[in-house]
Amino acid sequence: MDLNYTSVMASSQLLKALDYASTLCVLVYFVGSNIVAQHRHKLDKRKLTSRRRKILSVSLCTFITICYALQAIQYIPHLSSAPDDGLIHSISQFLLWTSLSLILSETASPSAFVWAGASALNSVLEVTIIAFSFSRPGPSNAPQIASFLRPIQVLTIFALFVFTISATVLLHDNPAPVDNEETQSLLSKSSTSTKIGPDANTSYNTLENAGVDYNSSKNLDSNSNSDSDEDEETLQLQQERLESSGGWLEYLKAFKIFIPYVVPTKNPKLQAYLVLMLINILLQRALNILGPRQLGLIIDNLWYHGQIPWKDIFLWVFFAIAASNSCGVGAVNEMLENRLAAWSRQELTYASLDHVMGLSMNFHDSKDSGEVIKAIEQAESLNELLRLLIVQLAPAVLDVAISLWYVMYLFDVYASFIVTSMIIAFVYATYKITLLATVARRTSSRKERDESKLIYESVGNWFTVSCFNQKGNAMSRLSRVLKERADAGLWNDDLYTYIYFFQEGSTYLGQLAVIILAAHRIVTGTSSVGDLVTLNSYWEKITWPLYVLGHNYRRINSALVDAERLLQLFQVSPAVMENPMAQALPNVTSAVELKDVTFAYECREPILHVISLTAEAGQTVAFVGETGSGKSTLFKLLLRFYDVTSGSITIDGQDLRDVTLSSVRDSFGFVPQDPVLFNTSILENVRYGRVNATDREVHEACKAASIHDKILSLPRGYAAEVGERGVKLSGGERQRIAIARAFLKDAPIVLLDEATSAMDSQTEAKIQDALRRLTKGRTTFVIAHRLSTVVEADKIIVVSNGRIVEEGTHKQLLDLKERYFDLWARQAVVGT
Ligand SMILES: Nc1ncnc2c1ncn2[C@@H]1O[C@H](COP(=O)(O)OP(=O)(O)O)[C@@H](O)[C@H]1O
Ligand SMILES: [Mg+2]
Repeated sequence: MDLNYTSVMASSQLLKALDYASTLCVLVYFVGSNIVAQHRHKLDKRKLTSRRRKILSVSLCTFITICYALQAIQYIPHLSSAPDDGLIHSISQFLLWTSLSLILSETASPSAFVWAGASALNSVLEVTIIAFSFSRPGPSNAPQIASFLRPIQVLTIFALFVFTISATVLLHDNPAPVDNEETQSLLSKSSTSTKIGPDANTSYNTLENAGVDYNSSKNLDSNSNSDSDEDEETLQLQQERLESSGGWLEYLKAFKIFIPYVVPTKNPKLQAYLVLMLINILLQRALNILGPRQLGLIIDNLWYHGQIPWKDIFLWVFFAIAASNSCGVGAVNEMLENRLAAWSRQELTYASLDHVMGLSMNFHDSKDSGEVIKAIEQAESLNELLRLLIVQLAPAVLDVAISLWYVMYLFDVYASFIVTSMIIAFVYATYKITLLATVARRTSSRKERDESKLIYESVGNWFTVSCFNQKGNAMSRLSRVLKERADAGLWNDDLYTYIYFFQEGSTYLGQLAVIILAAHRIVTGTSSVGDLVTLNSYWEKITWPLYVLGHNYRRINSALVDAERLLQLFQVSPAVMENPMAQALPNVTSAVELKDVTFAYECREPILHVISLTAEAGQTVAFVGETGSGKSTLFKLLLRFYDVTSGSITIDGQDLRDVTLSSVRDSFGFVPQDPVLFNTSILENVRYGRVNATDREVHEACKAASIHDKILSLPRGYAAEVGERGVKLSGGERQRIAIARAFLKDAPIVLLDEATSAMDSQTEAKIQDALRRLTKGRTTFVIAHRLSTVVEADKIIVVSNGRIVEEGTHKQLLDLKERYFDLWARQAVVGT
């Protein structure tokens, strides 16, 4: 008898635990399996579930929700006699399945593993609960309770069972064909859309838009053009990335390379700031509760004891000040946050420019520099993202959890249920309407553009319009567009009104319900008046995080995409890598040898075919040949801007790939075909050849390059600014400055790529002397346009279509009477 009683008690306790914990178990499974499903997503991308299957699944899911609602309703007449835990179980299950139904209706490709699993787990738990409920001891009416609930419980289990089966059948994971394009990186994608030609200025536009948008996106209501453009881009880019990385988890994992730039691992002061900030965030959570609670204590003291509670009043004021944003913990946190953000911005921007400058020529040649610069400047957005996540999102989520616990602590679990329902309604309404609003904003901004385009066209083409007597036509088009714009704009504005309506509506309804519950508790004597006051003043802290989540959702998304551009940039590794064992070039004699060099730009036809040649120390080797034959490419290989596809290039017997990049670049004085200057003074530009050169040395170099007199004739002489990329100077002048740089650099090997092509023959003749001086005693490679400038070369190489076709001295090649002879004859004719 005794034994029987204990076992009954034990099973009763177990039942209670099951009632309380089963919902949580299913929730935990659901969240966990979702994360796992994200992983699997990477391996097999699932097709979208068809509409019919989706509707069927959601209907079944909703039916389960209704079953739990019926269970809860069935409890109402038995409230006084029935044990609490059954009702709690029904309500929490009802809320869970409401959420699940909503989530299922919003999921494009739900996984059977998640949904059938959750429902199977739930049915097992339900069966266990029913089994245990037979042995529940209790008052004499216990069998009654069991019996009124039993039919609906059985129906629920049946519904769960059907849903499990149907989810397994309907939502099976069928892989979708993989689309290769999706694996492309963002940067290359967006840069292909901003290529040369008429839309070359799009990248400029986006740059500008980014600036505008940063501010406007802070405002949820804003509907400027750029805002919604960016929105569209944001969604699209993110979708692509999500698909290619296989789910959110993988997507976020990639961001871990930024950790060193956002967590101050080396700076103890900043570490202290970070720790302090995290402590402050927790402190704020505590203060959120302490303030309202203190107010409740004051009220209770006044109400029940009739004395002035001085201590409580002072404490209340203290908590209020401590919690305030302008002079409490909030202010301190703002300062800490700013310091951390400033540090992180420095680190990130430094690291990104460092990285980009270390990338190879193939990257820089193929990327739009505007896009790259924009990506570097996204360091800001990564900070914004972190700030949003750490300072807004994480505390908001924490606040939601805390508030659920606190209202339960203040009253009972039913108060938490009310808050939970409010959260579900709030989040779902916000999510749904925001989706609609995104589409509406896009439409409205498209209409705005249509309108201004039409007006612009009409005014701009007034003459044509008048000639063809088309004014009436233009006006009727305009009135149509005006109406469309107004409609689109109004719908957009209305949607925002609806968002606020539903947000405020759900919070006020929630507040109403909780206050009624509290009032009921006060009347029945289970709560004090102070509790109601506490709840009322705490209510704002419950709803605030919901607004934070709603408002920041879009900002987080767009900051994520911006940060992602930076991520993409960080993930590019240089094509030309330095050998870790590399030594500096010894530069003993600077003899250069090319052995069977073949080269192709990425995935293209080879540009150079099996080129072999040697330049003895001090020799001058000239290349001639039609444009596009690969001469400049050869120089890029010598400077190791690219690595040869096959064959080798050696200097003093050292393969270029085995020596340090910087020593290679130091060995060459290079005068490019089209020199580009910095937008500073001429003096600084020439000095770029050797940054520690004195003014005198710069002047000497300029004299040698026959540009000194020209510079002196300028109003500001050497201090004259050259304009962006050197536009204020002529091509010939820029070339001579580049030659002066090469003089100053004084490197053992000289590369002249049509160094005098932009000069008239007179200047060219003048500068020949200078060049002769520059190349004397140095190994020199010359690409020449005018053959007369290479007559004295030790070796002339005729290149055609990436192959060496003739090789010899001027005289030998003339005697050969082939290609060089033809070229020479043609130029001689033109020359006379
Ligand atoms: N970065 C690049 N990517 C792909 N192809 C290139 C690149 N640079 C040059 N080319 C191509 O390589 C060929 C040789 O170019 P180049 O070496 O500049 O010729 P040259 O200096 O003899 O006039 C040309 O057909 C050109 O289109
Ligand atoms: Mg060239």
